Amino acid sequence: MAVASTSLASQLSGPKSISSSSVCPTFSGLRRLDQLNSQSFSSTHSLFQQVHSNLRLSSSRKGCRGVVAMAGSGKFFVGGNWKCNGTTESISKLVSDLNSANLEPEVDVVVAPPFVYLSQVKNSLTDRIEISGQNSWVGKGGAFTGEISVEQLKDLGSKWVILGHSERRHIIGEDDQFIGKKAAYAVGEGLGVIACIGEKLEEREAGKTFDVCYQQLKAFADAVPSWDNIVIAYEPVWAIGTGKVATPEQAQEVHVAIRDWLKKNISAEVASKTRIIYGGSANASNSAELAKQEDIDGFLVGGASLKGPDFATIVNSVTSKKVAV
Ligand code: PGA
Repeated sequence: MAVASTSLASQLSGPKSISSSSVCPTFSGLRRLDQLNSQSFSSTHSLFQQVHSNLRLSSSRKGCRGVVAMAGSGKFFVGGNWKCNGTTESISKLVSDLNSANLEPEVDVVVAPPFVYLSQVKNSLTDRIEISGQNSWVGKGGAFTGEISVEQLKDLGSKWVILGHSERRHIIGEDDQFIGKKAAYAVGEGLGVIACIGEKLEEREAGKTFDVCYQQLKAFADAVPSWDNIVIAYEPVWAIGTGKVATPEQAQEVHVAIRDWLKKNISAEVASKTRIIYGGSANASNSAELAKQEDIDGFLVGGASLKGPDFATIVNSVTSKKVAV
């Protein structure tokens, strides 16, 4: 079901994007043209030359020298959030499907099993795929019944933790500052953080998407010591587990805004390096179209990550970022 766009582009305060299709219809997913800044283009020829010089050549796959249409410089990243699903048996099947899947090499792949299955997964899953926790305690472990510490996640071989997921924010009641502190602790202890942000439907409809995302981003930014090991997951709450996926344009619009926010408030380097991934009913059928958007650096996948072949298809949607030259 389509959800109305709130014309977020009009709120963008940075240099305006120029639609690639309006200037260069034979290419899709070109690098954002505001990077070409205020140069004026006297002819189609010079435009092509300048666009070309802004593309990143990928030569790591033999026989597939394509152009990667990514605004950021980070590697494509796909995470599977298994949430509170699975049994010993079903997880064993999922792991076996993942172990036999062909995964594109140019992608960081991570899965987040329920805590109680972390060891099972770590001990049976290929090293090609890293492990993440779905949550972690705000500080060092101790007398905190029911919690899982960063130290314990690391002990079991986790390299990542998901923090700020909307189910933790809106069902469990975690607030921005608490989530920021959790992220700071995890990053400080060397765990990568998949930092989730996103607006509810009523916030989108009220035109507050950017405000909500910026506020949640700021809470992370105010707390974390560094952005080196953080991936931002933009997950509109109305799209999570609902089958209502954001359109590629809706997702791209917010991803651009997030990158611009990082550029203005942190640094140009962090804006370029930080992966901004999309989550919310991403699946094997829609991931290729979404991945073509140049500011979408991957996915955080819930439901579809419980099916090995579908998850592999989403991982391999990185290939749709390649455009002909
Ligand atoms: P979904 O969940 O893919 O099932 O919508 C995404 C998420 O919660 O990370």
